[in-house]
Amino acid sequence: MAQHEVTEAPIAEPARRPRVRYRDVDPEEIATTAVSRRVPGFLRRLDAWLARATVRLVARSYLRKPDVADLLSIKIRSLRAIRHAIGNELAFRKRRERSHRLTSVNVEITNSCNLSCTMCPVNTTMQRQKRMMPFDTFRKILDDNPGLEFVLPFQWGEPMLHRDFYRMVAYARARGVRVMATSNGTMLETDADAERLARCGLDRITFSSDGIGDTHTRIRGFDWSELRENVERFRRARDRVGSDTKIDISMVLMDSTRADLDAHFAAWEGIADRVQVIPLLTGGERTTPCRELWRGSLVVLADGTITPCCVDSEGALALGNIADTSLAEVWNGTALRALRRSHRDGSYPSPCANCDEYEHESVSKRFQ
Ligand SMILES: C[S@@+](CC[C@H](N)C(=O)[O-])C[C@H]1O[C@@H](n2cnc3c(N)ncnc32)[C@H](O)[C@@H]1O
Ligand code: SF4
Repeated sequence: MAQHEVTEAPIAEPARRPRVRYRDVDPEEIATTAVSRRVPGFLRRLDAWLARATVRLVARSYLRKPDVADLLSIKIRSLRAIRHAIGNELAFRKRRERSHRLTSVNVEITNSCNLSCTMCPVNTTMQRQKRMMPFDTFRKILDDNPGLEFVLPFQWGEPMLHRDFYRMVAYARARGVRVMATSNGTMLETDADAERLARCGLDRITFSSDGIGDTHTRIRGFDWSELRENVERFRRARDRVGSDTKIDISMVLMDSTRADLDAHFAAWEGIADRVQVIPLLTGGERTTPCRELWRGSLVVLADGTITPCCVDSEGALALGNIADTSLAEVWNGTALRALRRSHRDGSYPSPCANCDEYEHESVSKRFQ
């Protein structure tokens, strides 16, 4: 089967941004911390164009994974971001103890969820106590780390269940940090819900659809036609209010969804801006160091535990707690340097030792 091209309309910097007002954050809250990143429009567009061209070349010729070009383009949208990505990649290649720059953070604003998807640890195997991260913790993460380029306000759990979800997105956006979220799409039952999401300042929202029709309904326990209606409702609201938020649809590729692969791409045409598949996390012996430790990203779990990788769903690789330290301190701190050294030396702690992904020609592995 041919490699699936991930589809994406060209990513252009919006001519006027933001067109929507941030309704969910008190301007007083950000008055003392807002970061100004004003650059003339034509320079920003040139910068974005050069970055996009470079990322495509790198994906094709260096990584030999053309299917990840779109995903990388979403995250790496400026020459500055490319510089940081190259610095991190060189550090990985040379297996340095220190990596170059922390650029993004996944913040698990909650590990609670209203679904029990069959492949997800959250309501199946997770041992951690379910909780909601206080807004002030989220705020501290951003305030203490002004170099962050983007934040993903979710990890294991449904972010839209958090009562401060909108406030958190708006806070990050108002600080000049790009925000991308992933959701199960259950919380968009009315036009008002959809408009609120469209106006909150998200760069991109990814809705999870594990297969289509009955496949999805069986795996997620949420009727696919309802998901579809909710996403269509969001699409209409987005276009109505003139929001720039992109819509992605994502499917976990595994035995139970594989037969739906082509239908998944076809089903969302005209609704989503981009359709992707990601591999199921599986067990398997690790034989090489994992790029993730150098890539420029950290994860903060709902209780503030900092871990280097989203696969570490129980926080076994804990590097500290955000209450006592900052991400910048952790990024090249003693614990993460020791972990990089141990990967370099071929000694992999749990869960790294048994981390692999579903093998398929339609999707590249991420944790290599
Ligand atoms: C954990 S969910 C959190 C966000 C939201 N609750 C959702 O379902 O979209 C984030 C993404 O991880 C995917 N996911 C869940 N379990 C997985 C697994 N075992 N392997 C790979 N991806 C998984 C989900 O399908 C979703 O796209
Ligand atoms: S909706 Fe998301 S977090 Fe909840 S069980 Fe499914 S994959 Fe896990």
